[in-house]
Amino acid sequence: MIEPIKRIDLNRLFESHREEYLDAIAKACDAGSFSGGIYADKFDEEFATYCGVAAATGVNNGTSALHCAMMALGIGIGDEVIVPANTFIATAWGPTYAGATPVFVDCTSDTWELDANKIEDAVTKKTKAIIGVHLYGQPFDVDEVTKIAKCYGLHVVEDCAQAHGALYKGRKTGGLVDIGCFSFYPGKNLCCFGEGGSVTSDYWPYIEHIIRLKNHGSDIRYHHDEIGYNMRLEGIQGAVLSVSLKYLDAWTAKRRTIGKRYDREIINPYITLQRHPDNTETVYHLYVVTVPDRDAFLRHMDSKGIMCDMHYPIPCHLQKAYSFLNYKRGDCPNAEYLAEHCCSLPMFPELREDEIERVIEACNSFRM
Ligand SMILES: Cc1ncc(COP(=O)(O)O)c(C=O)c1O
Repeated sequence: MIEPIKRIDLNRLFESHREEYLDAIAKACDAGSFSGGIYADKFDEEFATYCGVAAATGVNNGTSALHCAMMALGIGIGDEVIVPANTFIATAWGPTYAGATPVFVDCTSDTWELDANKIEDAVTKKTKAIIGVHLYGQPFDVDEVTKIAKCYGLHVVEDCAQAHGALYKGRKTGGLVDIGCFSFYPGKNLCCFGEGGSVTSDYWPYIEHIIRLKNHGSDIRYHHDEIGYNMRLEGIQGAVLSVSLKYLDAWTAKRRTIGKRYDREIINPYITLQRHPDNTETVYHLYVVTVPDRDAFLRHMDSKGIMCDMHYPIPCHLQKAYSFLNYKRGDCPNAEYLAEHCCSLPMFPELREDEIERVIEACNSFRM
């Protein structure tokens, strides 16, 4: 029987640095530094340096990072925030938790990122911000989105959950717009062993506000100046992340080697790849393709022992949770096409040479 190839294999990541991770966890335990604390703070500094931003503050997950970003920008009830229809739902949870309404805008038909040309039609008097997502690891069209935002006096937030270290015009994500929001969920390019996230910015007052918000609205113990939350990054996750960060660039290089091979060697008229604009350097978080008959493709890959996934099978505007917003099929046709035809191939740094070749061979032998 052929050995199955997983879409992602976190065991290989842990095993490749087992001792170092266990040592880091033990140190956080020995220090009794569990909620925030020295290891979380140390990681904040390292991550801010890595992203090339003035400051970063760790939070308990990427969804909280987006929620905090909205609150720091003063976004709340009655406001609207533009969000791509093709993203993980958490991008929309941020504005929703803050009391605002997400307004979904379609993606382009080839990069699959937020379509800057469709943003202006969605702007109203209530619009306060645009959240762009560096989807699948590839930066969105930051300059175009920022240009429109400037015209209408809007904030821009980048959802970097899938794009740690990705480059737009040579600049790293996290410092490209007003606020960057990261997730360290297991499986992300930079991941911890549980839940974690970070908010980055070059504007210190945003970070200062988020440090208070995530800590029960408090700067001084037991003095609560505003309604706050418990959204701190755990110390153990900070310690794990400091280890992971040391290897991030090496992992990214491996993802790029695999991704570029897929880009070059998957040659099949039935399979469409994501377009990578010249001014971006993707970090290949996910390797997503589209196929006209996804069910047939998934059966074919399964028969070859290759496990695939879908990111994402239902676009945000058609999710039941947002049915009260009255979107309908046809509102975001590119996102809807993707939802029905997308398929994610195995992609993680520890994929072996023979496995990469098997994935390419399986893709190229698919017929309809
Ligand atoms: C694009 C995007 N935004 C936000 C999130 C939310 O991050 P988390 O799962 O850490 O809350 C994720 C992660 O799953 C994501 O992929």
